[in-house]
Amino acid sequence: MADLSTVFTGIRFENPFLLSSAPPTESESNIRRAFDAGWGGVVTKTIGLHPVVNVKGPKTKFLRADTDSYRLSTKKRANAALHSSWNWELISDKPLDAWIGMLSGIKKAYPTKILVASIMAGSGNDKELHNWQTLTKACQDEGVDAVELNFSCPHMDRIDMGSNVGKDKVLCSVVTQAVKEVAKIPVWVKLTPATANITEEAEASFRGGADAICSSNTFPSLPLIDPETLEFEMNVDGYVSSGGLGGPAILPLSLAKMAQMTKAFPDREFSGIGGISNFDQALGYYLLGCGTAQVCTAAMLDHAVGPNVIKALLADMTAFLERNASRGWHSLADFRGLRRDRVVSHSLIKRPDEREYHGGYKDEEHEGYAKPKSTLVSS
Ligand SMILES: Cc1cc2nc3c(=O)[nH]c(=O)nc-3n(C[C@H](O)[C@H](O)[C@H](O)COP(=O)(O)O)c2cc1C
Repeated sequence: MADLSTVFTGIRFENPFLLSSAPPTESESNIRRAFDAGWGGVVTKTIGLHPVVNVKGPKTKFLRADTDSYRLSTKKRANAALHSSWNWELISDKPLDAWIGMLSGIKKAYPTKILVASIMAGSGNDKELHNWQTLTKACQDEGVDAVELNFSCPHMDRIDMGSNVGKDKVLCSVVTQAVKEVAKIPVWVKLTPATANITEEAEASFRGGADAICSSNTFPSLPLIDPETLEFEMNVDGYVSSGGLGGPAILPLSLAKMAQMTKAFPDREFSGIGGISNFDQALGYYLLGCGTAQVCTAAMLDHAVGPNVIKALLADMTAFLERNASRGWHSLADFRGLRRDRVVSHSLIKRPDEREYHGGYKDEEHEGYAKPKSTLVSS
């Protein structure tokens, strides 16, 4: 019998699919619609205490690729497939007060659904660390099931916020520790993919007490330049600033970041985000070892909260489990992490003939050189 439920960081989910922190999860009506549609959990749009003023004009656009040429553009047209989302939206501009009462109301109305509060503060001094604690306590008093620390927003001016925290191992650890001092609920950390070796920031966050790592947030990027007008396709008075790329284009990039972490910490918990529109893509994250998957861009394009996306995710996961019941797979736990060990160093990949290869060195007398394995056991 297919069982879609799962336990992640000690919390029981009806299914392992969540809406990630973004516009689909900023209003009470959207979150309620998302739960009614079938999402197992929702991570709220990031809540903060500092002033937030968004840019003039649109904050998100969708880049599409022509199906019969190499053209990429945000311009609306026929015969184009989604490539990515691009946004420069800041965190929620609703004050904390607006979330109080709203979160508890939602949780009361949907006791079996999982509500996670995404939070962000600065990290430059004790007052800022205290702000993380204020946000944590306020949200947990509302009855949310977990908090997700935003160390990943790519367009922050402040050097002590967002991805600037996620790029600093010490801050990852210090902020997580400050939150853990007051948290009675699981603490998830959402890391930026924009670092050289994400396992270092993951390790630092775990050292601070993180119960799970979530990745990826959007990748730092610019909108494209229109060849006719010579203007950026997204700009305000001709000016642009680095924003974040999400959607299908980041799926392989984000899987690579996730594989680095799940291999380095096979006994830890991870939530996969980035480019998921259907079950096949969520499956990739589960096979690498993730216990939940989160969706943003695909949901934004489907009636704002993804009713058709979640319907298909549930149906296709059920069909997948039924198809594989003969292998003894009845729930996510039965296939989670099955392909984690298939990601290996380059020298472990078989060469066309039996010639010896020592990872680019003349012989095997070098540290860091991994010896080839002859066979893999398929499961
Ligand atoms: C318009 C927009 C706003 C976002 N706002 C937040 C945010 O407030 N906090 C956060 O942690 N991530 C935010 N994200 C990132 C998403 O949660 C997600 O990590 C990212 O879009 C990758 O997932 P996707 O490929 O499914 O879109 C935002 C993304 C978009 C497109």
